[in-house]
Amino acid sequence: MDLFEYQAKQLFAAHGVPVGLGETADTPEQARAAAERIGGVVVVKAQVKVGGRGKAGGVKLAKTPAEAEEAARAILGMDIKGHTVHRVLVDPGAQIENEYYFSFLLDRSNRTFLAMASAEGGMEIEELAVERPEALARVPIDAIAGVDKAKATEILTQANFPAEVIDSTADTVVKLWETFVAQDATLVEINPLARVASGEVLALDGKVSLDDNADFRQAGNADLEDTAAADPLEAKAKEKGLNYVKLDGEVGIIGNGAGLVMSTLDVVAYAGESHGGVKPANFLDIGGGASAEVMANGLEIILGDQAVRSVFVNVFGGITACDAVANGIVAALGMLGSSATKPLVVRLDGNNVEEGRRILTEAAHPLVTLADTMDDGAEKAAELANSAK
Ligand SMILES: Nc1ncnc2c1ncn2[C@@H]1O[C@H](COP(=O)(O)OP(=O)(O)OP(=O)(O)O)[C@@H](O)[C@H]1O
Ligand SMILES: [Mg+2]
Repeated sequence: MDLFEYQAKQLFAAHGVPVGLGETADTPEQARAAAERIGGVVVVKAQVKVGGRGKAGGVKLAKTPAEAEEAARAILGMDIKGHTVHRVLVDPGAQIENEYYFSFLLDRSNRTFLAMASAEGGMEIEELAVERPEALARVPIDAIAGVDKAKATEILTQANFPAEVIDSTADTVVKLWETFVAQDATLVEINPLARVASGEVLALDGKVSLDDNADFRQAGNADLEDTAAADPLEAKAKEKGLNYVKLDGEVGIIGNGAGLVMSTLDVVAYAGESHGGVKPANFLDIGGGASAEVMANGLEIILGDQAVRSVFVNVFGGITACDAVANGIVAALGMLGSSATKPLVVRLDGNNVEEGRRILTEAAHPLVTLADTMDDGAEKAAELANSAK
């Protein structure tokens, strides 16, 4: 999960990383009131989870509360690279003398953590990495040893930070590492990390990505989620613990095992080419234990998608055998009753397949068609989706 700048800075502040803490505002009037409370020059900043806000006009300096209101009016509702601005951050204006760059991230390709730092901030880091790679220090971090003041000093020295800011900035870097570890982050980035007129070095921007796999031990993560932006079907699926991703096609997909579901998406997309160009409507992996309840939850989500015209259930019986899956499908259709209205193509294979097929044949549900192979099933589901258009 990526955080908004204001959320990132709140985490930084909680761990002692110096930031100019401002206030968020959802209306121009709120921005004006925030500017009045903060006093002096403020910066009004679009809160969207995408970079390049400055260049897009999403960061504006305001000398008075009236100007802050005007700036917020211009920024709220703005579209930045496909993200609509619903909220701004009103931050105390800083008198910037130098802009630096600092981040910690998970370096997957090298199976380690990495610090990246540069005394030449301001510029986009991707650009700097390409044009002046020597100006960007990359220092691997041992997960066990972590980052103490000596390590922080080493990184900053390697990145050519001016001698007079290294000592205080090293303390900040240690706190940033503590933030990274304590929050189970995969990225913490400050760009710019700015030296201001008072000599202080503070985070004027913040970017944080948290590891969703750690949600179980990060009670605070749920509050950081942007529920307004989440797809309603995806949000509902998440609530039910389902591995669901909404796509823009017409054939609902249920399978077990991510690999099988991915292949199912491919064969359905391929079959759709000769059936009016229909496509998969979603990814849904119901995992190993395909109980009636999990099947019912999955079907309910998929049938709740207005775009879905047919559903392809493609299950390979393993630990959960085909007869259990078949019973799950029958029970799920029973639970859903009249809310199940779209045709279902079911392909079962693997453990206890004969028994599974027998159960479905005997149940003779009017919506269910059995398919022998994955290709046949995809073909049938695509055909049904096309004829229901
Ligand atoms: N509180 C502040 N006071 C003064 N200037 C600021 C403040 N916050 C940001 N700025 C200036 O605005 C620039 C862009 O802000 P920021 O880095 O937060 O946005 P961004 O989305 O990363 O934009 P970009 O990608 O264009 O740098 C900063 O590099 C800095 O020069
Ligand atoms: Mg920035």
